[in-house]
Amino acid sequence: MSTRLPPGPSTPALVQTLRYWNDPEDYVRRCRAEYGTRFTVRVWPFGTIVFLADRDDVKALVRADPAVFQAGKANSFGDVVLGRRSVFVTDDAEHARSRALMMPAFHGKAVRDQVGLMREITAANLAEWPVGEPVRALPAMQAISLEVISRNVMGIDDVVLKERVQRSVLRLLYSGSWFDALPGQVRFARHPARLRRKRMRASTDALLGEQIAAHRRDPRLDERTDVLSMLLRADVEDGPMSDEEIHDQLVTLLLAGHETTATGLAWCLERLVRHPEVLARARAAADSGDDTYLDAVVKEALRSRPVVPEIGRKLSRDAEFAGYRMPAGTNLWPSIDLLHRSAQSFPEPEGFRPERFLEKGAVADWVPFGIGNRRCLGATFAQVESRVVLRELLRRFEFETTDAPGEAAVRRHVTLVPDQAATVVVRRLRGAA
Ligand code: HEM
Repeated sequence: MSTRLPPGPSTPALVQTLRYWNDPEDYVRRCRAEYGTRFTVRVWPFGTIVFLADRDDVKALVRADPAVFQAGKANSFGDVVLGRRSVFVTDDAEHARSRALMMPAFHGKAVRDQVGLMREITAANLAEWPVGEPVRALPAMQAISLEVISRNVMGIDDVVLKERVQRSVLRLLYSGSWFDALPGQVRFARHPARLRRKRMRASTDALLGEQIAAHRRDPRLDERTDVLSMLLRADVEDGPMSDEEIHDQLVTLLLAGHETTATGLAWCLERLVRHPEVLARARAAADSGDDTYLDAVVKEALRSRPVVPEIGRKLSRDAEFAGYRMPAGTNLWPSIDLLHRSAQSFPEPEGFRPERFLEKGAVADWVPFGIGNRRCLGATFAQVESRVVLRELLRRFEFETTDAPGEAAVRRHVTLVPDQAATVVVRRLRGAA
């Protein structure tokens, strides 16, 4: 058992930090090329990070004890916005309990029941798309996914209230600063960035509070299928969920549930207009109701342009992993980006070939939604929504193809978005709409 960590750059931590933040994906790929599928870097504000890009290491992490390999601790940067009770930042029993309470709303049948609504919302949002002019697909997809998730999570029908909640969520999401990444920033109670965040969270909470009260008054609460109603009805051993906890889970679902899906859809369009043959096949699939091919397009977009480039676990105590004795506090980051670029798992990894998902046994390292007991709660929801939106787009519009270079992937919060917001042009409307 080695007491050292896996190899990595020997340059000072400051140099590694500057190189990493200048272009995280480029730095991580260079390290992969130089040190192999397991390497250590030192980056402020995280500290020691061991990147993992080997399928067996990732499998071992799935089996590892979640009380030692903690995801909540690794995600603790999120508590400024999401709140300290959020399923994203908690560990152990508290995490398991909130996850179990919300899970039923995101299972296959519950998600299939949402398809009609997803289609309706998409159709209304696409009605105004211009012909012959560039459209920035990312914000357009975001409008759709925010509406879909807010209907699913909160079941809001009131148009004015719905818009107020959506505006508030967007403000909360886009008001971040470098301060958010500072470890232990909760200690800087009077820092202007923290105070601004707190004000925004308070105004979102006030709106959510109105909604919670309205649900509690609703005589049909027992019949409602939205997540909020499920959380209000939940009768758990240690009493009902507190309002604080409900607020934190709602904000988490509203934020985690819309930006990611919208980004995946934007990448789908960005890739399709650069691959005319795939676009033609996808259009035919949309017309004939061939969901399998559309699902493969969504999967290949998430493979070749992962929305979330890596996931995190943090050691709560010294532990053995992959033949190393790692000290408490070490971060382990399986790199989705590197796993998806492995030529061994995905021949011609730079290509865009949905067919690989129709072939047998090709997807061992496909992990866009993370792994194990922390795998994305909304994975099925996101894939079904993406298929529904993509089908509507392809049935309504004929897109211009392009041989322009692909858009670059740039960081926005924890996601990698296309730098031109996936700009596409509708050549003409199709009869199918
Ligand atoms: C294409 C869309 C999406 C992508 C790529 C994505 C990706 C991810 C990833 C990588 C994680 C971390 C998993 C890990 O640490 O192993 C995660 C967690 C999570 N996601 Fe998603 N997500 C998407 C859509 C959604 C949607 C639609 C929802 C809500 C309906 C959602 C809710 C969550 C929640 C609550 C967690 C925390 C789970 C936990 O810690 O137990 N996500 N997601």
